Amino acid sequence: MSDVGISEQAVTSETDIPKSEGQLETGDGSQVKESESISVTESSTEVGEGNSGDGLASKVAAHYNTLPEAGREKRLESRIFFQRNFNNWIKSMCIADALKRLREKDRQRKIVAFDLCCGKGGDLLKWKKGQINHLVCADIAAVSVEQCEQRYKDLQAKSQNDRNKLFTAEFYTADCAEEILTDLYKTPDMTFDLTSCQFSFHYSFETIKRADTMLRNACERLKPGGLFVGTIPNGCELVRRVKHSEGLSFGNDVYRVTFKDKENFPLFGCIYDFHLEGVVDCPEFLVYFPLLERMAKKYGMRLLYSDTFAEFFKKHSRDRENCQLLSRMKALEAFPPFDKTSASQTEGDYDHAVKFLAKLKSESGREGDNKRLKVGTLSKAEWEAASLYLVFAFIKEDVTADKGEDKNAEEEEERTLPEEEEEEAGPSEDAAAVKDLEREEMGITEEPVTKKQKT
Ligand SMILES: C[S@@+](CC[C@H](N)C(=O)[O-])C[C@H]1O[C@@H](n2cnc3c(N)ncnc32)[C@H](O)[C@@H]1O
Repeated sequence: MSDVGISEQAVTSETDIPKSEGQLETGDGSQVKESESISVTESSTEVGEGNSGDGLASKVAAHYNTLPEAGREKRLESRIFFQRNFNNWIKSMCIADALKRLREKDRQRKIVAFDLCCGKGGDLLKWKKGQINHLVCADIAAVSVEQCEQRYKDLQAKSQNDRNKLFTAEFYTADCAEEILTDLYKTPDMTFDLTSCQFSFHYSFETIKRADTMLRNACERLKPGGLFVGTIPNGCELVRRVKHSEGLSFGNDVYRVTFKDKENFPLFGCIYDFHLEGVVDCPEFLVYFPLLERMAKKYGMRLLYSDTFAEFFKKHSRDRENCQLLSRMKALEAFPPFDKTSASQTEGDYDHAVKFLAKLKSESGREGDNKRLKVGTLSKAEWEAASLYLVFAFIKEDVTADKGEDKNAEEEEERTLPEEEEEEAGPSEDAAAVKDLEREEMGITEEPVTKKQKT
């Protein structure tokens, strides 16, 4: 890995709130040079049709339908316990940030949210905490939707005496890259304030049609000023890593990605196998994020941000409450560990934390004090997996708002571009954009280590 971003972070309730931020080098020299490039094939808007006949959507559904629901005990034993919690914290921040933005002008705003590809309902508590009013959940995996609905009912039973009423909810099993959900909704003219699609949108990038349908479902029912947020694998980072690997595969003891080709990366249907310890073992599709950004314009969506997990962590972990949540969610592992056993037994997996601790100690003049100082971190292997992802947020442009005639006209033109034209325009422009993106993004994979703590 390249840089390791370290911010001192609370790992238990006993800890101090961060005083400063630091950076560490893991020093394996793996940063990508600016001159290295990703080639996106020009013909790639057509690609992907070849895969659709193979029924990959049903393969994905079958995978998630048969994934056992890990109980608390199992989760505690998981090798990626902290990474899962860290991902969960990222989702919490993403959703909370969106709700905050929506309520900026109206604190009492009633919020209708759409959990697109909701899975087993892993985000229900986040919606409860966010005090939304209504939630629509949809997923291709029927078993997951059933579990999600059951979890909601359990939550409802537990929340009966709560001062704040629990949101109402409705559930749909649907291939959201195939079916137009508006046709299924109990209230067809329902509109959303927020769509959240967590760790899922990439499954639709099998063909342009599927990606567009998923995007349509995510955005067409959003109100002006409504948000579409989510987490998604970073196509550029995946390509960078496979290009740096010996063969077609890269990874470590917690994750592995295997491509079929490392020269051509079609914009759609670029399949790779993704294995994440005990959680995912499934074919996925590469998403070149600037293309998603461009496609989203068709639905009047403007990008607010797209951050690597490292950038997003840095932005949000400075806040005291968010920092406390990191600790409560056990989203980072204490180093040195409290019970002498770290999640990873691989040599060198905590070198970044060792270096950071040494730096902290020398700065504070506590070189001899080895016992009391701890940081929160992720093992290098877990961070390599977590740093594959981006967090993003789009806003639905308010065409009725007074933004000046020219801007309106320009945006309107973009929205009404005939579909073929948009397809034609995609690859060459995007291939050029890759170069810009490389300069900005390549090698910026910072690993979070955390705050100083007293024991
Ligand atoms: C990694 S899980 C994430 C679940 C949930 N969003 C979360 O963060 O806990 C990916 C989910 O995407 C769903 N999915 C994949 N392709 C889909 C499609 N075409 N339509 C609807 N759901 C889909 C899967 O069934 C699975 O539940």
